[in-house]
Amino acid sequence: MKNVFKASAIALALAISTQVTAAEINFSTKINNKAQTLVVFYSQDANNSAFNDIDKQFKNQLSHTIDIKQFDGKYGDILEVIPTNSRKHQRVFIVGTGKLQQLDKSTIAKLGGNVHATLLQNKVESASIVFDSVKGAISNPELAANFAHGANLRDHRFEKYKQTPNTVTVSYYFDVDDKKQTNNTYSTLQSIEQGVFLARDLTSEVATQMTPVAFAKAAKELEALGVEITVLEPKELKELGMGALEAVGRGSEQGARLVVAHYKGSNTTPIALVGKGITFDSGGYSIKTGASIARMKSDMAGAAAVLGTVKAMALAKADKNVVAVMGMAANMVSQFAVAPGDVVRTAEGLSVEIVNTDAEGRLVLSDAMWYARKHFNPEIMIDVATLTGSKIKAVGNDYAGVFSQDDTLISQLTLAGKQVNENLWRLPLGYKSTLSSDIADLKNLGSSGPGATTAASFLEHFAGETRWVHIDIAGNALATKGKDEISPGGTGFGVRLLSEWLLSN
Ligand code: BES
Ligand code: MG
Ligand code: ZN
Repeated sequence: MKNVFKASAIALALAISTQVTAAEINFSTKINNKAQTLVVFYSQDANNSAFNDIDKQFKNQLSHTIDIKQFDGKYGDILEVIPTNSRKHQRVFIVGTGKLQQLDKSTIAKLGGNVHATLLQNKVESASIVFDSVKGAISNPELAANFAHGANLRDHRFEKYKQTPNTVTVSYYFDVDDKKQTNNTYSTLQSIEQGVFLARDLTSEVATQMTPVAFAKAAKELEALGVEITVLEPKELKELGMGALEAVGRGSEQGARLVVAHYKGSNTTPIALVGKGITFDSGGYSIKTGASIARMKSDMAGAAAVLGTVKAMALAKADKNVVAVMGMAANMVSQFAVAPGDVVRTAEGLSVEIVNTDAEGRLVLSDAMWYARKHFNPEIMIDVATLTGSKIKAVGNDYAGVFSQDDTLISQLTLAGKQVNENLWRLPLGYKSTLSSDIADLKNLGSSGPGATTAASFLEHFAGETRWVHIDIAGNALATKGKDEISPGGTGFGVRLLSEWLLSN
């Protein structure tokens, strides 16, 4: 099947000039015998009848290699065979699936990612994936579509600054037991991919290019999909009393922006997604030093994730009412920047003593959360933010931290995350009293207590009566190397999780 979203992918490519995905996916009910390479699955617990048939065609060369290499079908192991005298395929990859019942959305997408990386490494241009006989915990169409999804996700890289970007395209031919069903599932996953790719590209782009104004411009492109975009300028932020967001933006020439992206696919009460959009976090006068400053172009990944999610919902034409509210600013040093000790007033009314200008995320979020509640009165509000180094110390880069008083939302979101390899780990709220200030209603730094929690508890002041969840994605947003369905650069963490949650609840 041709990529039905080519047009929008190209529009995005022009805007922030990135590549269009280079895996081409075809589903059919027959095995393609012309592809250069054949990929067959080998499980630890089934009779592997498809494998055995193919092995016979290759005069038992596959089973022979398996014996010598002591390959036993362990999940994720990939064995290469170069058959002699094959008129059809130059090579065969045997892919271990582990026990078939363990094959679900998340495990098959990872396999898709890893097989794709192997094919790229071997400069394979076309591959026939023998899929029809593969059954797992979910149906064959779901498995095939999610495998293709994993391959596409792994394929997407940010190489616009390279003299010779990778241009290899792998054409995939899957034989599946139900073509229509597979295409249906795949089409939703393609919408989600486009949301992930947008979030990744926005995050990967360098900070001098990806400014608050550039981000707002990229958001505007979603208007073509029927998404309503509103951008508030510094003057309007001031008029609305959004002193916290305005203050963080004051140190850079462009100042702050509030960007709102509303996709109204139904008339229900909206779900609000609030994103931290610090296009560069120098720390401000509480300046970051050494390695801690190096990757701070990615401090807008929360905003990118919520915008990507809205794009995914719009492309999927989901019957959801979802609005992303993004607080955008560059946290820089200049004669106009906020000084430690300054007091600002949030739109909510609470004044905040800025003890540390590097704790800026909670400031922009406080006003963005206020705006989301005031203008949309949402049923649920979820904020996504690269908020604290403390979260990385607590749970590392493979989990995001999740905070809420709402047990139901925590379990729904955690489950959704598991399905898509974007795992959440619950951390506590609390230590509120450590945020009390001598001269203002609150200070932006807890005097004691765990940093990820005091940051979350600061935000809780701005959630009011709304059901609210905070997701701290510090460390999840930018990958240094490829792994599973992740390629180096912006990860788009949060788009798949939120899309999965929205579409299944
Ligand atoms: N953007 C950072 C958090 C961060 C750290 C994200 C590492 C990704 C990787 C945030 O604005 C920040 O500077 N947090 C400080 C807070 C401190 C000053 C209370 C931190 O975590 O060190
Ligand atoms: Mg900071
Ligand atoms: Zn920050």
